[in-house]
Amino acid sequence: MENMFSSVLILLITITLPSYAQTTPPCIHYKFAQTLNKPNGYKQCIDLPYYNSTLHYNYNSSIETLEIAYRHPGMKPGTLSKWVAWAINPTAKGMVGAQCLVAYHSHKDNSVVVYTSPITSYETTLAKGVLSFNVTGLEAAIVDDEVIVFATIKVPNNRRVIHQLWQQGHFDNAWNPIAHPFENNILSMGSLNLVSGVLTLPPQVPPWKYVHMVINICSWGVLMPLGVMIARHLKDLLPSAWFYLHVVFQLSAYILGVAGLAIGLKMTSGYSKHHVHNYSHRWIGISLFCLATFQVSATLLKPKKQHKHRLYWNRYHHFVGRLTVFLGLFNICWGFLALYERVEIWIPFLTVFLAWGCSNQLKTLFYAVRESSTSSSNI
Ligand code: HEM
Ligand SMILES: *[C@@H]1O[C@H](CO)[C@@H](O)[C@H](O)[C@H]1NC(C)=O
Ligand SMILES: *[C@@H]1O[C@H](CO)[C@@H](O)[C@H](O)[C@H]1NC(C)=O
Ligand SMILES: *[C@@H]1O[C@H](CO)[C@@H](O)[C@H](O)[C@H]1NC(C)=O
Repeated sequence: MENMFSSVLILLITITLPSYAQTTPPCIHYKFAQTLNKPNGYKQCIDLPYYNSTLHYNYNSSIETLEIAYRHPGMKPGTLSKWVAWAINPTAKGMVGAQCLVAYHSHKDNSVVVYTSPITSYETTLAKGVLSFNVTGLEAAIVDDEVIVFATIKVPNNRRVIHQLWQQGHFDNAWNPIAHPFENNILSMGSLNLVSGVLTLPPQVPPWKYVHMVINICSWGVLMPLGVMIARHLKDLLPSAWFYLHVVFQLSAYILGVAGLAIGLKMTSGYSKHHVHNYSHRWIGISLFCLATFQVSATLLKPKKQHKHRLYWNRYHHFVGRLTVFLGLFNICWGFLALYERVEIWIPFLTVFLAWGCSNQLKTLFYAVRESSTSSSNI
């Protein structure tokens, strides 16, 4: 059983690790079209990890300027309804405070519009505005399916490491830019060291999320089902010890589960409303806590073995126990699904359930065979 669980866990972890396949050609090989009049190109470049975007640049620290060419694909003429933006945020790491260069295809004449826009709140409409640093030579062109934004920027405070971000989004019917999607679309930012060209991305998953994940897998995914399995199958093997083992497993699972839930709730409480995408995961978690609390406290009301109500208590106890295990495993997979969006997440879930279902059948079969062999040997 333990073996099966650890292999399921390993499977679960390996298939859920995100893969980072670099599909776009590296930027160093890129040649700017002659019509763009950039005969020397740019000394440095970086393939940005979202939207297949690329940043080419020259940084001159003695005159504190940064010449950039930001390339963003998926902008074929005709794809009218997309805006793209590249920005530096001199004051913070997130979106608010970003000083943007915004470009899009004009819906009127298919020309490329490019302008600057400072973001002061999450409700921004990307209105034209003056940035907090000087921008010269701002222009944009469409080459193949890419929009390329050119500009020369006076680097704020001549910092060598800049917080820069890039994004794309659509327009509403009145041609006002509307927000980019949030899920998986808000990691397109990072600190760029202009001298070394090293881009540092924000953590994919907030560190607390891992603690939440590990604790809850241990609790609802391992200890809780194992404890139930002990009660179900080891009664004959360990006639007196099974009960203590069961209590120890269930109680430690409960304590860990409460800690995991608390971390989960804490993780989402400080953020804007957009950060809690998976309300059902949250509510299943809360229901699990209620079920498990109910289950633990109901042991105090357990009737004596010979009592006529004991049978009902047992039925109730088994039902709630199974429901808790089911929901717990389900919620683990549900959480993984929200995080990595891979359907294979359900494989371990289904495996455990198949094993769970079969374990009872196998046990019945085992006893049936043993019984028939002992009764036949008695004849
Ligand atoms: C119409 C314009 C825009 C609207 C309405 C908008 C709205 C939002 C909102 C509400 C969030 C918070 C999401 C959350 O809390 O989960 C967000 C996050 C973010 N946005 Fe935008 N956005 C816009 C344009 C941009 C642009 C132009 C950029 C980059 C150049 C950008 C980059 C980001 C990034 C990196 C985040 C995640 C970091 C953070 O939360 O500060 N956004 N946006
Ligand atoms: C990036 O490019 C690859 C290969 O050209 C493509 O499969 C992928 O969909 C692109 N990603 C985005 C976000 O456009
Ligand atoms: C920086 O700009 C100054 C003044 O234009 C120039 O003399 C110098 O060569 C430039 N440095 C680099 C690394 O391009
Ligand atoms: C931008 O440049 C102008 C003149 O070129 C200068 O007067 C102004 O102070 C600069 N602004 C910033 C924010 O550097």
